[in-house]
Formats: sequence, C-alpha cells, structure tokens
Amino acid sequence: MTDLIDALRAPGADEGTGDVTLGMPVSRVDGRAKVTGQARYAAEHPADDLAYGVVVNSTIAKGRIVRMDLERAKAVPGVLDILTHDNHPRTRSIGIFYKDMTSPGGSPFKPLHDARIRYSGQPVALVVAQTFEAARYAASLVQVMYEADPHETNLMANLGAARKPSRLKAGYSPPPEEKGAGEKAYAQAPVKIEAEYYSGVEHHNPMEMFASTVIRHADGRYLVYDKTQSSQNSRWYVSHVFGLSKDKVTVRNPYVGGAFGSGLRPQYQLVLAMMAAVQLERSVRVVMTRQQMFTFGHRPETLQRLKLAADRDGTLRAIVHSAVAETSRFEDYVEVVVNWSGQLYACDNIKLAYQVVPLDRYSPIDMRAPGAAHGVHALEVAMDELSYELGMDPLALRLKNYAERNPMDDMPYSTKALRACYLQGAERFGWAARPQAPRTIRDGNELVGWGMATGTWDAMQMFARASAVLHADGRLVVSSAATDIGTGTYTVMGMIAAAAMGLPLERVTFQLGDSTLPVAPIEGGSSHVTTVGSAVQGVCEKLQRRLFRMARAWPDSPLAKARFGDVEFAEQRIRLRASPEKGVALTALMAAGDKQRIEEKYLLLPSALKQRKYVRATHSAVFCEVKVDEALGTVRVTRVVSAIAAGRILSAKTARSQVTGAVVWGISQALHEETHSDHRLGRFMNHNLAEYHVAVNADIHDIDVIFAQEDDRVVSELGAKGVGEIGIVGVAAAVSNAIFHATGRRVRSTPMTPDKVMAP
Ligand code: MOS
Repeated sequence: MTDLIDALRAPGADEGTGDVTLGMPVSRVDGRAKVTGQARYAAEHPADDLAYGVVVNSTIAKGRIVRMDLERAKAVPGVLDILTHDNHPRTRSIGIFYKDMTSPGGSPFKPLHDARIRYSGQPVALVVAQTFEAARYAASLVQVMYEADPHETNLMANLGAARKPSRLKAGYSPPPEEKGAGEKAYAQAPVKIEAEYYSGVEHHNPMEMFASTVIRHADGRYLVYDKTQSSQNSRWYVSHVFGLSKDKVTVRNPYVGGAFGSGLRPQYQLVLAMMAAVQLERSVRVVMTRQQMFTFGHRPETLQRLKLAADRDGTLRAIVHSAVAETSRFEDYVEVVVNWSGQLYACDNIKLAYQVVPLDRYSPIDMRAPGAAHGVHALEVAMDELSYELGMDPLALRLKNYAERNPMDDMPYSTKALRACYLQGAERFGWAARPQAPRTIRDGNELVGWGMATGTWDAMQMFARASAVLHADGRLVVSSAATDIGTGTYTVMGMIAAAAMGLPLERVTFQLGDSTLPVAPIEGGSSHVTTVGSAVQGVCEKLQRRLFRMARAWPDSPLAKARFGDVEFAEQRIRLRASPEKGVALTALMAAGDKQRIEEKYLLLPSALKQRKYVRATHSAVFCEVKVDEALGTVRVTRVVSAIAAGRILSAKTARSQVTGAVVWGISQALHEETHSDHRLGRFMNHNLAEYHVAVNADIHDIDVIFAQEDDRVVSELGAKGVGEIGIVGVAAAVSNAIFHATGRRVRSTPMTPDKVMAP
C-alpha cells in the first residue's frame, strides 16, 4: 500500500515542476487524494457523538397521512428520536423561505411540513439512532397509514393538460417569437418531414449518494458537509428554512462525487439532518440510499414534434418545433428544449413552442445540458430524416444551411468554429467514405452504420469574487466558494493562477467548497471556468500590479524604468520580457518588504453591454459508428469522434475528460437510461443500478475528442467558453442516425433498447 501511495506521489510525465502554460495537459491536482481515499466526501467527515438518520419515504403518490405508528420503531435499542410532520423542530412555514438560488417558479417542496403527500417517495419520517444499523432497522418498522387520492403521473395520458409555464425561472428564456411563417412555409415546400420524438425520464446517478453531515458546535453553530453544487446555495437555504443567521451556519463541499445538476438545489436530506441536529442538539448524518436517489428531481419526460421543410437543393424553408414536458403540481420546472432550433441552421421561417403538464411527481431538475440533450436530439434526428428525403448526405445538408449569423434574430455569434468541427471531425472519422444508403455495410453478422449530428450549448458568464494571498515563502493561495464536482475545478483554477504568477503548480493552492469563501456562483451551466476562472485571472492581475510596484521601488531595481507592459511573471520571478535575466524573485521581493503576506481581492462582473450584442454558444459535431445485431436488437457504439468548439481550452486533460465522460453519457442516453413508472402506483419502479442501466465499460469503445481552435474574448477574459455540457449534446442523435444507416429503421424515442432496434 505504501508503495502504491509513493507511486502515485511521483510526479506524472505531464506534471513538471516548471512554469504552467494555459492549454497544457495536467493531471488533476486532487487525483491523488481521491484515489488514495484521503478526499473526504459529505458522508465521510467525522464528528463526536454522531447520530445517524434514515429516511422513511411515502408509498403513495397523492393523499395524506392519517396515522403513523412509531412504537415498534422507537423500541429498537439505540433509537433516539423519530421526526415527522407532527413533531419536528420549528422551521419557517412560508414557501418563500424554501426557495434556493435555482428554484423554478412556484412553491418549493417543504420536507415534513404537513400530512399531505405530493409524490411517491416523499420523505415522511426521519429515524435517528446511535448507529446507522439501528436507524435503518427501525425505519423499516415505521408504519404509515394513508388516505389516498387519485393521482396522475402519466405524461402521455395527460397531454390535454399542456399549458405554457406560468411562472418562470431566473435565467430561463421562453421560446422566441415566430420568425416568418413556419406552418405556411412548411405547407408550400417541396420536400418535408414530420415526426414525433419521445424521451423518457432519466435520473442522475452520481457515484456519491446525497448526504449531509451536520456538526453541531456547543455554542449552537452548525458546520455542514453537504453534497451540493454550491456551498453558498445550501448555506442560504438552511439559514432561511431554520431562521439562522449567516454566522450560525457554514456549509462545505470540498469534494463532490458527481452531481450533473442534481446538486443545483439543496435536497431533502439536508433539511432532515439539520432538523435532527437542532432537535437533539447533537451532530447528525443523513445519507440517501441509491433507491432514495430516485425520489427527487430527474430529467423530465418530454414529447416533441418537429416539422422540417426544404427546397430540392436542401435549402431549409421551415423549422417548426414544439415540446411538451412534465412538471410537478407545486413548481413549474422549465428548460430550454426548442430554442436551439432557432440557433443552428439558417432558415427564414421558424416556429417554436414549449409547454408543461403538471403531474403528481417531484419537480424535474436540470441534468447535464438540460433541454438541449433531448431538444437538439430531436432536431438532429429530424435533420437526418430530411437528408434522406432529399437524397443528400447528412453532413452536406448541415453545411448547406450553415448559419453565419444567428437565424432567429440575425445577431452575430461571439465565436463559432462549428464549420471547423464538421470538417475536422469528418476527416478524423473518415466520413467521406460513407455510402448514403442504409444497410450497405456489414461486418460478420452485424450491420454497420455511420451517423452524425450537431450539438450546441450556452456559453455563459456570471459574477464571482476571488481572493489571492501570496505568502513570504512564495506560496500562493487563491480562494473562491466554487465547487469541483469532478470536473477539474481545482486543477484549472490552480493552472490559471500559476500561469499568471509564473509559479509552478505545486506552489499554488486553490481553495473552494466553503460557504465563507468569496462569493461564487453555483457550479452549473458549464460556466465555472468563464466565471470563477476569470475572477482568478482578475485577482492575479491585481497581485501582479502590486508586486510590480514593489519591484520598481526596490533599491537599484532592474525594473525601475519599466512599465507594467514590459514585465512578465515567470520562473517565480518578475522580469523584463525583453531581457529575462533582469528581474526580481518574488520571495526576495516579499523578504525585502518584510511582508508575511500580501492579499488582493477581485470582483468579476460580466460586461453585459458587450456580451448582449452576441449570441454566445459552444458547438460540436459528433460522428459515430454503430454495429447492430438485428436478430438480438443489440447496438454497439464502436467509434465516436466528437469535435468541440468551446473557446480556448485552458486545461487540456480535464477538458478532454469532460467531453469523454459526456460522450459516455450520450451513449447511455441513447441506449440505456430510462426510469420506468408504474402509473397505477404513480411510482418509479427501476430505482436501482441493476434495473436502471447506465453505460458500463463494456458498452464503451473508441472515443476521440478534437478541440477546434477558438478564442472567445466576448464570453470570458480568458477566451474560454466552458466544456462540461456540450460533450453530451448530439451524441444520442448521432447514435440514432447511425442505427438508421445500419438498419433502415428510424427509432424516434430514447433509449433505443433492443426491442425497438430488433428486426420485426
Ligand atoms: Mo449542470 S445540469 O448545469 O449542473
């Protein structure tokens, strides 16, 4: 074991001790801590006298609790308390206090608030005991008597209830006004297709379960380790729900084992663990089971209809795209499903619509590339269908209708290297050799198909603060309340600071995951690099200027006559660009000034005036090969080339990992993932990893990632656009289109399971 740890400690081939250049491949700086088990996740932080809570969930979808029999559970040795809607400590009763920073419109769910049951799986009790085992056993003995009301969980049976979302979420853009006349142009065009596309419910299944460890200090302050995509969001929420001032609650999330959007909102285990800690005046941990991971938030079931029409030469004449998605009875969860269809292809007539159907389920929640993952899927399968109607190569159809300006409003793009993605991706894949007709390539008893699709996602920047402290020994500590959900935040932020200050990576520490650090946004929307990264760059520039002033004032300074533009920070020195031998070591500067530390703070505010003049988006072209055994209906995705245009790539290795992971999920979306409901029970049935299938190693073959050259100074000061989500968009469509090319069968719903792919 010691050998293993030593081996891991040895610097890898790509982690020298020299200067850092943005764009270089660096192994993640938190990697060693993770693989040696030293990185502690929310459920792993120790506390004295810790009590364990286990949640009991409702078994009906709608109605009320009429009685709870807790006697047998209470009799289990070690049980400390059972919290229910009848006896929990005081929490705010008004809905507004339960709003978190990403709440959609409506009234948020309030755990253990009253006897009403709003969805199957709703938490109805928390059993707290001295051991997890006692709590778990006692939880199985809790008896709940319900009075059930009729429920509706079936989207397809309730399409008649579809309506516009009435209450919108901050940052959500409803579909824009119609451009031209979509239906009329569709009716008049010579070549057209019309189809419906269905995508089932998907659940986030990160490795780490949702968990909260609430450590209660004797003075009544709470330190909470929570699984969340924002420590500050959870802190804000807990403060509001329990009426606790800011200094009474600190939330930390130094490591997060995947979240994919499920951690954008505080989940119920946080409230329940806090309730128990308040009630019992001791530290409490609540960890969800894998089954309970299916009892809050999911990618919404969505039905889409697309009409595309073109002239015989492939010129698009009409895009008509509408979507209907589920939401809960208490919130209008909204996402951008159809707007992408006004952003990708030049077209004079575009009509977009989006509606929701309230059901007796929990509110959906964002999942990696929310809205785009299935919205662009439908558009891109429809484009493939149109290419066959036209007898035109699918890539040629995209190039024919390539948009140089945003079709919906004629705005320029900040940058758009999508053409480079198409061309470089096609070349790497060998697309030119593709025969257009389906069922033309065979490999043994398998049919081989090649498909492609376009992807797009937002390139966003929010506001953030950062601080930087340079210590006398030349160590730099940069801080912001950012989050690393496995995406590489520690690594890329460390790289940005190291590159700016001319320090080797190991002399830089980036601190994140603590609600008391400078304000950072929630890690979401692939915006952390553009936002927190720019704040890190900004604070380092302030530090540079301060050090430059100190260096100029140095006796006999070699920089005495220099201007700031004449110097650079490299090899732990500030020196003249033109004569690098003339300079001052940062440690010498600190020692001469007798400084133990110098600190700078920075606030990054996006330059909204400049940004609003552009459409800001990332783009991709995905090419894939499938091999289909028609007799069995099995599909193997043997090759994927994903060409990405996401601005300047700052951390080549972690960015590539993001896209590779997203392609894996795209394959999983295409072939495996769906949560099935039994509508008689109003309940998700396959709530475990045995029956909810995610792609495993055996499902994944070659994945090749290309980054097209792009540098976007509109989106961010660093030229970056962000890569977390773009990698999944279009993957499932490319798989679907490849299945058509292999078999001649068009599958219009995901996942494309063997029953849909099998020869009739
Ligand atoms: Mo992501 S769905 O913005 O966490």
